[in-house]
Amino acid sequence: MQIEQLIAKMTLAEKIGQMSQFNGMDGEISEEFKEKIRKGLVGSVLNEVNLHKINEIQRIAVEESRLGIPLLIGRDVIHGFKTILPIPLGQAASFNPEIIKEGARMAAIEARSSGINWTFAPMIDITRDPRWGRIAECLGEDPFLTAVLGPAMVSGFQGDLGSKGNIAACAKHFAAYGAAEGGRDYNTVTVPENELRDVYLPPFKACVDNDVATFMSAFNEINGVPATGNEFLTRQILRDEWNYKGFVVSDYESVTQQVVHGHTPNNKAAAAQAVKAGVDMEMVSTSYADHIEELLSEGVITQQQIDDSVRAILNVKFRLGLFSNAQTDPSNFPEWVNDEHRAVAKNAALQSLVLLKNDKNILPLRSGLKDIAVIGPLADAPHDQLGTWVFDGDKKHSVTPLQAIKEQTSGKAVVHFAKGLENSRSKDTSGFSEALEAAKRSDIILLFLGEEAILSGESHCRADINLPGAQELLAAELAATGKPFVTVILAGRPLTIRNIVNTTDAVIYAWHPGTMAGPAISDILFGKEIPSGKLPVTFPTHVGQIPMYYAHKNTGKPATSKSWEKIDDIPADAAQLSIGNTSHYLDEGFEPLFPFGYGLSYTMFDYSNLKLVETRVKMDNPVQISVDVKNSGDYDAVEVAQLYVRDLYADRTRPVRELKGFRRVFIRKGETLNIQFELKSQDLAFHNRQMKKVTEPGQFQVWIGGNSNAELTAFFELE
Ligand code: NOJ
Repeated sequence: MQIEQLIAKMTLAEKIGQMSQFNGMDGEISEEFKEKIRKGLVGSVLNEVNLHKINEIQRIAVEESRLGIPLLIGRDVIHGFKTILPIPLGQAASFNPEIIKEGARMAAIEARSSGINWTFAPMIDITRDPRWGRIAECLGEDPFLTAVLGPAMVSGFQGDLGSKGNIAACAKHFAAYGAAEGGRDYNTVTVPENELRDVYLPPFKACVDNDVATFMSAFNEINGVPATGNEFLTRQILRDEWNYKGFVVSDYESVTQQVVHGHTPNNKAAAAQAVKAGVDMEMVSTSYADHIEELLSEGVITQQQIDDSVRAILNVKFRLGLFSNAQTDPSNFPEWVNDEHRAVAKNAALQSLVLLKNDKNILPLRSGLKDIAVIGPLADAPHDQLGTWVFDGDKKHSVTPLQAIKEQTSGKAVVHFAKGLENSRSKDTSGFSEALEAAKRSDIILLFLGEEAILSGESHCRADINLPGAQELLAAELAATGKPFVTVILAGRPLTIRNIVNTTDAVIYAWHPGTMAGPAISDILFGKEIPSGKLPVTFPTHVGQIPMYYAHKNTGKPATSKSWEKIDDIPADAAQLSIGNTSHYLDEGFEPLFPFGYGLSYTMFDYSNLKLVETRVKMDNPVQISVDVKNSGDYDAVEVAQLYVRDLYADRTRPVRELKGFRRVFIRKGETLNIQFELKSQDLAFHNRQMKKVTEPGQFQVWIGGNSNAELTAFFELE
C-alpha cells in the first residue's frame, strides 16, 4: 500500500521528521522553518491558527518537500474553537453523550475551517480531587460515565475522519494524570495496578474501541516511571493488550522531562526510553531529532520501532484525507459563531446546569417581578464565563447573564445591577453598599458568584476551594436583607459552598458555561427550560475531606450518622474509647455536601417498583432490571435515572457503589415511565489479586435513583 511505499522511500532523517512536532510561529514563517519543512524534518505543528500560514506550510510540505507529506496541525480545541461550549466538566453534567458529540462536531467544523486537523481532546483523566485545576477539563470522577462521554466526544471530532469538517481526536493523558498527589498539577502518581486498570484505564480503552486516532502520554510519573517512557503503559497495555493502531504523541516536552523526573540521565537516554515505550511523536522538545540517529546506530532502538511510529503517523494523515488535499478553503465552511453553533452551545449549557437547592420552589422565578437585583462579579464577566482552555474564543461573542436577564425581562421589570466585587478574588468591599442598595430596591436577588476562568485549568490548582475573595461576605450581607435570594455559581471545579447553600434560597451550579452562559441561565431561572444536569463529581463540604468520591471502599468501620462523634459534643476531659469508633472526621463527618449524580428539577421524580426478572442469574445471562419513574410534579421534564451496583464480597474488596448505567429520559407531568437496564457479567468484572479480569459469582446489590445516594434497592445472586 501507499504508506509502505512511502516508508520504503524515506530517509532516516525524514522518518525522524515525521516523529517531530514543532510549536507554532509568532509573526512570519521563518526561512529556517520553511527549509526544515522542505527537507521533510517536520511532521506536525501545534499552536498555529493563522489559516494563511497553515495553508502556506502545507503547500511547502506537499509541493516542495521530496516526498510531499502533509502536516498534522494540532491545537487544543477543548470545549469549542470560536463558539465556546461549557467546560468539559460542565458538559459531563448533562450525562448526555449526544450533546457532547454535537458540541465536538461543531468545534471540529470551526477548527477545520482554520486549517486545524487535530485536537488534543478529549481529556478523559479520572480525578477525585477538585483542587486539581484540570478537573475543569475532564469528564468527572467516574470511569463508567467518562467511558461513555469520552468516546462520544471522539465521534463528534472525528466522524469518519476523511470527510469535510472532521479532525483527529486525542485521548489524553495516558495515564492516571488526574491522580496527582494532593491535587497539585504534574505531581507524583501512585496507583496500584488493579486500581489503574479498574478506574483510570476504562475510558481510554473505550476510546480505543471507538477508533480514536491518537493518544497523548501524560506529564506525571506513575509508580516511579514517567508516563512518557513507560513501556508498561504504552507498549504492553496500549499496543499489546488493546491492539491500538493509532499513534501516541508525548505531552509538551514530556520526553525530555524524564531527565527532570530523575528517570534518565540526559535527553539522549530520554529519547531512547520514549521510543522504546512507543511514544511515536515528540511534542516540542527535540530529543528525537537530536538523538534517534545515534541511538539507532548504537542498536539502542530498532529500525522497526521507528518504522512502526512513522507508519502510525502517516496512517492518520491518510485517514484525514490530507494526502488528497491539505489546503483549507474557508469558503467551504460555515461562518464561526453562527446561529446554529450558538444554539449548540446554548443547548449544551442548558443541560450542564445543576440545580442544587430550591427552597419553597423559589425557582422558576414567578412572573410579575418588578425589580430584580442582579449582583456579583460573575454576572457580567464575558471572559470568565468561557472558562479555561479558551485559546481561540473571543469574549466579544459572549452573552452574559446580565445581558440575557435584561433581555428576558425587558419591558416587564427593572434590573438593578451592581457588581459588589470587582472580580472573584477581590477583597475590596467598597462595592457592597451599591449591591445592598440594589437588593433593597428589588423583589429578588440574583447573585452570580464563583471563580474567574484563570483560577482553574493547567497548573491552576487551589489548596483552598472556598469561594475566593470576599464573595461569602457579600452573600451574607445580601442574605441579611431578608429578600428572596438565588445564587448562581460559575466555576471550573466543585467549590466548598456550604455557607452559600445555607444562606440562599436556591443555588444553581453553572460551571463555566461558555459563550451562551447568559441565555441558558436566564431560561432556567425564568422557567423557559427545566434543569436536568447532574453532578459528574462529588461536592465535598470541606477541602480536608478530599479525596471524597462516591465509589469508595467500605472500610471495616464505616461511619453512620449515628456513629459520627461531633467535635462540639465531646465533653471536656473525655476519656478515649477503643470500641465503637468509625471512619469519619470529628469536625466534618463523612458525607459530602452533594453526592455524585445529584441534581434537582422543577418537578419531582418518584422511583418505585424496582424489579429483577431473575434474582438468581447464570453467569452468561444478562441481569434484567426495571424501575418505574413517575413525574409527580408540575412540569414536563428530563430525569437522569442512574443504576448503581455493589459486589458484596470479592477477592479484592469492591466499592460501596459503582455506576453501571444511566438513562436520560423525558417524562411528562403525571406520567410514569418504566425504565429497563441490563447488566452483563463483564459489566461486573474487576481485576483480582492475580491481576486477572474476572466476574465473581456471588451476591450483588443494585440501586436505581436520581443520584448516587439512591435508596431503592434489590439483590441478585450471580451463579
Ligand atoms: C500541555 C497539556 O498538558 C496538554 O493537555 C496540551 O494538549 C499540550 N500542552 C499542548 O498545548
